[in-house]
Amino acid sequence: MRKTSNSALSAMSERKKTAGTGAINEDEPLELASNIELTQSLTAFREWRRRAVDKAGAVKVGLVPTMGALHAGHMSLIEQAKKDCDIVVVSIFVNPLQFGPNEDYTRYPRTLSTDMKMLSDAGVHCVFNPSVEELYGQGAGTDATTVVVPPRFLIERLCGEFRPGHFEGVATVVCKLCNVVRPDYAYFGEKDYQQLQVVQRLVSDLNLNLEIRPVPIVREHDGLALSSRNAYLSKEERAKAPLIYQTLLQVKKHIFAENVPVEQALAEGRKRLGAEGFEVQYLQACDAETLAFLDTRKIPMVILTAAKLGAVRLIDNIIIRD
Ligand code: PAF
Repeated sequence: MRKTSNSALSAMSERKKTAGTGAINEDEPLELASNIELTQSLTAFREWRRRAVDKAGAVKVGLVPTMGALHAGHMSLIEQAKKDCDIVVVSIFVNPLQFGPNEDYTRYPRTLSTDMKMLSDAGVHCVFNPSVEELYGQGAGTDATTVVVPPRFLIERLCGEFRPGHFEGVATVVCKLCNVVRPDYAYFGEKDYQQLQVVQRLVSDLNLNLEIRPVPIVREHDGLALSSRNAYLSKEERAKAPLIYQTLLQVKKHIFAENVPVEQALAEGRKRLGAEGFEVQYLQACDAETLAFLDTRKIPMVILTAAKLGAVRLIDNIIIRD
């Protein structure tokens, strides 16, 4: 495998000049410490795979799909992939299809050079970073592309109610990335719990030849779940944000240690967040697999929430397995 080439580095700086995304930051190219390949076209990735994987014979390939702006949560996915696999591929692609018209697609942080440095230090073998045109042709954002539609019962509730089309966008891009990378394992964080259920179903319903490996949530010292969007929080909002996790813990305690009826525990949780200035989109207790709403105690259960603090939408959950 080659060290990231000069052409890859100039591609990064070219992307920087031409992205026109209004992204928060697009940092400077860096020299990288270890061997890592940056591929930005389907042909380049396929060629790299042919050389690095197919010729090597029976190796396990892990894919960690990301939208970049990497943090310790992503790095825990990569750490797991490194343990399980011989070759680790990370995709960095801000997928327009999963953003609604009033969402943060254009200002989503794009930090390719910094991401490349982190991935290089982590021993990742290849980064797949296509442009929108490369992955979608002229179809993205129009009706002229094939879209994968997951089962309605998984996508119409919770985040799906507030982000119509989001999970179709996720399912479509994950399907594309898996078709290109052809991994044995693909890694997804439990923070995006509904997304995880959607991709599990995608793999089983479309008979994709890979296994989804879930990885637990990584939290800040005060309990806030790591997310690229935490960077949008003001100082005051950041100080309040851990209340989300505290509320989830309180709801769990009410239901499982104090026998409070599920709906009452949830209503109290919503009230607590609302009183602190959060706009609660949902706080629900669900069946951990079907995401059906639960009004009685059942294990496994997942308690999920999405709440806005100012303009920033935060999601979190806790899974009760035993
Ligand atoms: O979780 C994410 O970062 C994205 O939804 C994913 C899975 C990379 C698809 O764009």
